[in-house]
Amino acid sequence: MNIIEMRSVYREKLDLSIDECDFIYKIILKELCDIDPIKIALDPTFNFSSDLEDKLLESINMIINEYPIDYIINKKNFYGKDFYVDENVLIPRPETEELVDWLIKDNLNINDEKNVIDLCSGSGCIGISLDINNKYLNVTLSDVSTNALKVCEINKKNLNSNVKIIQLDLNSTSTFNKEYDIIISNPPYISLDESNQIGKNVRYEPKIALFTPKDKPLHFYEKILEFASTNLSKNGVIYLEINPNFISEFNQLLTNYTINHINFKDDFRGKKRLVKLKF
Ligand SMILES: C[S@@+](CC[C@H](N)C(=O)[O-])C[C@H]1O[C@@H](n2cnc3c(N)ncnc32)[C@H](O)[C@@H]1O
Repeated sequence: MNIIEMRSVYREKLDLSIDECDFIYKIILKELCDIDPIKIALDPTFNFSSDLEDKLLESINMIINEYPIDYIINKKNFYGKDFYVDENVLIPRPETEELVDWLIKDNLNINDEKNVIDLCSGSGCIGISLDINNKYLNVTLSDVSTNALKVCEINKKNLNSNVKIIQLDLNSTSTFNKEYDIIISNPPYISLDESNQIGKNVRYEPKIALFTPKDKPLHFYEKILEFASTNLSKNGVIYLEINPNFISEFNQLLTNYTINHINFKDDFRGKKRLVKLKF
C-alpha cells in the first residue's frame, strides 16, 4: 500500500473529520514510522514495507478503540519537553503544567538551593521539568511503582536531568527529618464513585495512578500532609493538584493541621484544581 492509499484507509476507518484524520495520520507517520509527512505531497507513490503497513493498520485499530495516541507513539509533550510515556504511567495533563509553572514562577529569583520532592512522580514530568528549569532546585522523584520509576529513569536520561529517583510508598512512614523545602504532588485523586464518568481512553492508564482507595477520596492528601509533618522544613511549601469535586472535604482535612497560608488556584478550565499550602 502506498502513502496516499494508507491516508484513505485512515480517512475511511476513523470516525473523524478529514482534517482530524490527516492530522493523526501525519503524527503516526512521523513518530511511529519515522517518515516525514511531507512525503505525502512529495512522493505520493511511496510504498510502505509490509512491517510498516502492519504497524499503521494496527494503529488505526488502536485509535478506533480509543487507545491513547500518546501511548502509541510513546511520547507526550509537557512544559515544552517530550516525555517518554507508556502504559505504566499516567499521561501528563496540561493542568499539571500549571502547577509546575506556579512553583517555577514562585522561585524565579532564588539564589539558594532548595530541596524539592515530587511525590507520586509517575513519568517524572513534574520533577524533571522543575529540575530543567531551575538549577537551584535539587529535585527528588518518588513513586511506589517500580515500573513508573523505570519510566522516570528513561526521562531523566533522555532529558539530561539531574533528579534523584527513589521508591517511596506514601502508605508507609518515610523519615527524611525536615529535609524538604518544597513538596509537590499530583497524587491519584479519582474516587471509585467517579470511575464511571471517566473517558474510555483514560481506562488504559494505570489504575494505581488514577484511583483512591474505596470511600477515601482524600486518602493521598492525608498521607501527603502526614509526610509533610515530619519531612517539610520550617517555612516549607506544598503544591498540590486536587480533585475540584472534593474541595469542602479537602478544606475539612486541612483543619487537622496548623496551616498558615492556603491559596487555591483555578486551572485553565476554571476548576479549583491547584493549591499551595504553608505550615
Ligand atoms: C496521578 S499519577 C501522577 C503522575 C505524575 N505526577 C503526573 O502528574 O503526571 C499518580 C502516581 O501516584 C503513584 N502512587 C499510587 N499509589 C502510591 C503510593 N501509595 N505511594 C506513592 N505513590 C503512589 C502512582 O504510581 C502514579 O504514578
